[in-house]
Amino acid sequence: MAGPLLEVRDLRKSFGGIHAVQGLSFGVDEGETLGLIGPNGAGKTTVFNLIMAELKPTGGEIWFRGENITRVPTHERVKRGIARTYQVPQPFGEMSVGANIRVGMAPDDLWKLVTEGADHAAEAEIGRSVGFSDEQIDTLPSELAMGDLRRLEMARNVAVSPALLLLDEVFAGLTLREIAHISELLVEKKRKDGLTYIIVSHDLRALAPLVDRVIVMSFGAAIAQGTFDEVVRDAAVREAYLGQ
Ligand SMILES: Nc1ncnc2c1ncn2[C@@H]1O[C@H](COP(=O)(O)OP(=O)(O)OP(=O)(O)O)[C@@H](O)[C@H]1O
Ligand SMILES: [Mg+2]
Repeated sequence: MAGPLLEVRDLRKSFGGIHAVQGLSFGVDEGETLGLIGPNGAGKTTVFNLIMAELKPTGGEIWFRGENITRVPTHERVKRGIARTYQVPQPFGEMSVGANIRVGMAPDDLWKLVTEGADHAAEAEIGRSVGFSDEQIDTLPSELAMGDLRRLEMARNVAVSPALLLLDEVFAGLTLREIAHISELLVEKKRKDGLTYIIVSHDLRALAPLVDRVIVMSFGAAIAQGTFDEVVRDAAVREAYLGQ
């Protein structure tokens, strides 16, 4: 494909007097894994909210597969292949893990579900693909550890077969073992389905082996970009993190 899969141009978002995102521009190529890092409050989650149309930008444009999608609503963006996980996992508490995966499925599949009954085999397969046992697929999210909840977030996104997956703090609150599991899962999904990722993470050690390129944000703007090794050596980046 010519041009980047996703491109944001001069993106801006203000909340009253707070300029959460101020003039951010970057592209992500198909198959690339981009890290998006920066101190607390830098604007990373706001960027994800804007890419998903969960917030309306104050200015700028968002392009996907060569089309301007700035005014395209969330459900249509999901249909076109963009999905995200949340910094704080938000499962439906009264529904089983399997049912949570099912509601993540594309609307067309949902319709099939209403007319032809639930395809439990499909949700179980997606559940297994992120490492759930058949027993866990029948349990409630409240029974799950944080690592499992983050895997459920992954499963719900995998269910919509995205081309671009935005991962917000996927490693937060996890043990080293759980971090290793999620990392393996991300690498495996990418190898199989050719996914493109943007990963937000404060855990730079977990992020380093996954990313092709990193953008560093501070106060709503990109202050550095390059390979992981390049940006962590950057003086402005060190200052932004130390000044936190
Ligand atoms: N809905 C909102 N209303 C008002 N201010 C907001 C809103 N969402 C975010 N902000 C502000 O915008 C700025 C950027 O927040 P954002 O959550 O995008 O940062 P972040 O980089 O994701 O931080 P963290 O690493 O802590 O998750 C912060 O100053 C935050 O308080
Ligand atoms: Mg955030």
